[in-house]
Amino acid sequence: MRDSAKLKEQLQEILARYRGERVELILILEEVQERLGFLPKEALLEIADFVHMSAASVFGVATFYNRFRFTPIGRHAIRVCMGTACHVAGGALVMEALERELEIKVGDVTPDEEFSLDRIACVGCCVLAPVIVINREVSPRMTPFKVEEVLAGLKEPKEKV
Ligand code: FES
Repeated sequence: MRDSAKLKEQLQEILARYRGERVELILILEEVQERLGFLPKEALLEIADFVHMSAASVFGVATFYNRFRFTPIGRHAIRVCMGTACHVAGGALVMEALERELEIKVGDVTPDEEFSLDRIACVGCCVLAPVIVINREVSPRMTPFKVEEVLAGLKEPKEKV
């Protein structure tokens, strides 16, 4: 669980670098997500206050862009590249396979918080398309069949009884 005092402190550090103007909203949202891994509701409320906007407007802006997430990332943050080359090479099928295997939808985290699933824009490895990024490591030339194999390598071995 995220400590609320710590969250406030991290947020204050970020906000101290801005002037509190509306035009800074996206930059602030990006920095908060970069630092915390997602945009917690408390942070969005505080940001709204800071840039003198209603909470509804800030939520509206944040949900408009699909690069923002509102739940914590998992221990294994899986991101599927949805850039053009990866999309053309079957990125959507890889995403479907991950959703099926993990039993979550894109933007969600598994109940045990082990895996989160997101889409990202081109990561600059188009010749290896379609790619997924697990934490910071790129898995090249993914196929729906390779998904199961990759996930098996990440799952903790079950303890023998
Ligand atoms: S489009 Fe996926 S790496 Fe460029």
